[in-house]
Amino acid sequence: MSKKVCIVGGTGHLGQFITNAFLARKNEADITVLTRPESQTNESTKKLCDSFRSRGAKISYVDFNNSNELIKALKGNEVVISALSHNVVAEEQNKLIDAAKMAGVKKFIPSEFGVDTTLSFNQEISLIKPKIDSVKKLEELGLDYTRFMTGIFLDMFFSPWFGFDLPNGKANIIGDGNVKFPFTHREDVGKYVAEAVLSGKSPKVVRLAPIMLSLNDALDLLRKQLGRTIDVKRESVEEVKSKLGAGKISDIGEKTSTMLRLSAALGYAMGQPTNEKDYPSVKPITFNEWLKTMPKLV
Ligand SMILES: NC(=O)c1ccc[n+]([C@@H]2O[C@H](COP(=O)([O-])OP(=O)(O)OC[C@H]3O[C@@H](n4cnc5c(N)ncnc54)[C@H](OP(=O)(O)O)[C@@H]3O)[C@@H](O)[C@H]2O)c1
Repeated sequence: MSKKVCIVGGTGHLGQFITNAFLARKNEADITVLTRPESQTNESTKKLCDSFRSRGAKISYVDFNNSNELIKALKGNEVVISALSHNVVAEEQNKLIDAAKMAGVKKFIPSEFGVDTTLSFNQEISLIKPKIDSVKKLEELGLDYTRFMTGIFLDMFFSPWFGFDLPNGKANIIGDGNVKFPFTHREDVGKYVAEAVLSGKSPKVVRLAPIMLSLNDALDLLRKQLGRTIDVKRESVEEVKSKLGAGKISDIGEKTSTMLRLSAALGYAMGQPTNEKDYPSVKPITFNEWLKTMPKLV
């Protein structure tokens, strides 16, 4: 029997991959994408919704400020997946959790999808605090949940946010670059979420680390693939810690990205054990396979 699944934020950078993964298995799932009415003024969001609809999803337009509307839209769904932007986890995701409880939803998947938020080092990162609060709320309401820790999105990693300027052949690294940390391609995040939900193999925490690679190894492979040099500037962990401790990084975006890079450099990005092998039907993309798409990206 088809499982009724509602994806909220299913048009987003990550959410569209989750929606696509469920649509690829539409014989097993009855899919609703919940989106805000105002998002339809954005041409690319509207196009995405049209494409989801043409492939079998129901599109539900809901104003998050209208709790009755939200509850009505969620009613009948067994699972609600939130792929909301981290900026709106504190407010909008909590409205969604309340509505899901009222609607009788059986399982809620909160917007996590990054470094392991069960680890205390990561809980100091500002964008993670609201995610922890959401989990507390789920616990308080007695609403079952599954949190997906995915490490860093492979296909979003080599960006200025993580210290890379590939068009100009430059990279800034924290630490010696030898610590391995977890990557998952967004397409695979979608596939793992769909498999966990549809197979019912969905414990409270799912840790995914299909690729574990050090920055030095990643950069070597990248140089080979691009056939060019990448100049690397290194900052020690101690230097970065002391800058953060002295309040020298005040911009919130820069502070968040620095903390995430520090977490990876210290080996705190992912706890143990990881669960990717529990979902053998998902064949995740390898770093080398993904690299072959790089020339198109830079
Ligand atoms: N591991 C990594 O490397 C990595 C990288 C990026 C993000 N992430 C995580 O992935 C998750 C999703 O992030 P994302 O970048 O995919 O998010 P996003 O694209 O910025 O936003 C996702 C969706 O949230 C909805 N939304 C935005 N503002 C809203 C509001 N005010 N009220 C209600 N809905 C709103 C929008 O859907 P509609 O317009 O359809 O309503 C939007 O498409 C977050 O938890 C983030 O921290 C992880």
